[in-house]
Amino acid sequence: MNYHDTLSYLMDAFGGADSLQKLLGVGPSALSNYRRREHLPLNQARKLSNIAPKFGFNLDPYTLKISVIDDDRKPEILLIITGGIAAYKALELIRRLRDFEFSVTAVMTASAQQFITPLSVSALTGNKVYSELFDLTDEQEMGHIQLARKADLVLIAPATANFIGKMAHGLADDLASTLCLVTEAPIFVAPSMNPHMWTNTATQDNCAKLKRRNISFIGPDNGDTACGETGSGRFAETGFIISQIQQKLLQKHSSADIFPSEKQTKPLDGIKILITAGPTLEPIDPVRFIGNRSSGKQGYAIAYACAEQGADVCLISGPVSLEAPLNVRLIKVETAQQMKQACADELDVECVICAAAVADWQVKQTANAKLKKSNNKPPEIVLTETPDILSWIGHHPSRPKLVIGFAAETDSLKKNADDKRARKNADWILANSVLQSGESVFNSDINEVLFLSKTGAEYWDTDSKQAIARKLVHRISDYFSDVHVSGVQKKENI
Ligand code: PMT
Repeated sequence: MNYHDTLSYLMDAFGGADSLQKLLGVGPSALSNYRRREHLPLNQARKLSNIAPKFGFNLDPYTLKISVIDDDRKPEILLIITGGIAAYKALELIRRLRDFEFSVTAVMTASAQQFITPLSVSALTGNKVYSELFDLTDEQEMGHIQLARKADLVLIAPATANFIGKMAHGLADDLASTLCLVTEAPIFVAPSMNPHMWTNTATQDNCAKLKRRNISFIGPDNGDTACGETGSGRFAETGFIISQIQQKLLQKHSSADIFPSEKQTKPLDGIKILITAGPTLEPIDPVRFIGNRSSGKQGYAIAYACAEQGADVCLISGPVSLEAPLNVRLIKVETAQQMKQACADELDVECVICAAAVADWQVKQTANAKLKKSNNKPPEIVLTETPDILSWIGHHPSRPKLVIGFAAETDSLKKNADDKRARKNADWILANSVLQSGESVFNSDINEVLFLSKTGAEYWDTDSKQAIARKLVHRISDYFSDVHVSGVQKKENI
């Protein structure tokens, strides 16, 4: 197609000259200028390229080449593997990405190849692995520009401190770093490194720079690292990385929604939901605390799933290393007292879900200075109970319509959880056994739940925390549609 034909095609494809002008934000004279000069400015071409999928085709902003969208096309992930010990985890990541129907093309840095071989990566992706910037064969088959352009999302996993530093400074001395500069796709970085390297000001400054450029970070997690130290720097869990990617790609598609009037209604539109997640940390002195191993994964997955279905979600979270889910208002707290206060401030909702692992005890008198180790004997710490937030909400005069709790049990799952539901006046309890086949549910990617209501119990098979969250959200949607149908109106935004 020549330029004139292309512009005519675009005009038709975007609903005529008026519509095209509106989309470009220009008047008729600008459009005829583009025709006369046979040039559509790149920023305008990009605008059209972004919204073209909504009209059923793709538009290359550089060549103005048009291609019809293949609905069955799998989202294309360009996975950049850099050289850290967690490189071996990229193999599992690829396997899981493919389970989730992503197509994966991998690029490996030279140092990544010291940890895992291109052969194993290629066997898992089912695609050629790229590593050389100046490789004539590769350039003939697929130049690096093309490699960057065909990606829907670029994922750097694991990302070393060195590679993050190169990205922050715009270096392009190998294929991987060059692709990061070339791509226009969203970039996600999943760091993995020694905790001191991660907390080093140089690394943190580099990350802050990248975040300002809209590059997203997944993790790192807290915990034991391969170098034997404990702290922040662990490669994020595979399931969490995948959920973040799915979230982004979903967002990309919905942001192509350019016609607000066509916006679809969702089952939880207009419903306000308050969710607690993560642990609470109760201070002993300025440096020590009582805490637990909750990662927040289950509560965050529920918050994400609720927001995805249109709910107005406020997530009150204890300290975790997860990013706020899309479209969720996050309030960070540390102690049970602060969590209760935040719940009190936000209680004007239709539904509450208490997924937090609130510490049951707090120290009666927190020491103002660090408790010293003496030769005599360890200090005596007197504990008192923390406020029971679920019970307080369940019995509140302005109790929300639907109150949902969790129960983490080690034994007599049903009996203990039933008792908790009645005692705390919750409508539903999701009972999870703390030890599932020998593995703790805390920080795991999977969960297994006994769903209890006033009228019965239902076993939910082992599944990812995201799947459990979606199942719960389904229940909540049914509940509110029943409430609506039975004549009690959903509360509108109060
Ligand atoms: O965060 P993850 O690593 O993903 O792990 C998920 C989880 C195991 C933490 C989660 O699924 C879960 O079970 N959360 C509740 C853990 C817990 O504290 O259970 P419990 O049986 O001690 O408490 C029962 C209910 O009362 C819970 O809804 C809890 O939030 C609430 N509670 C408990 C004590 C307290 N002081 N205030 C409360 O509100």
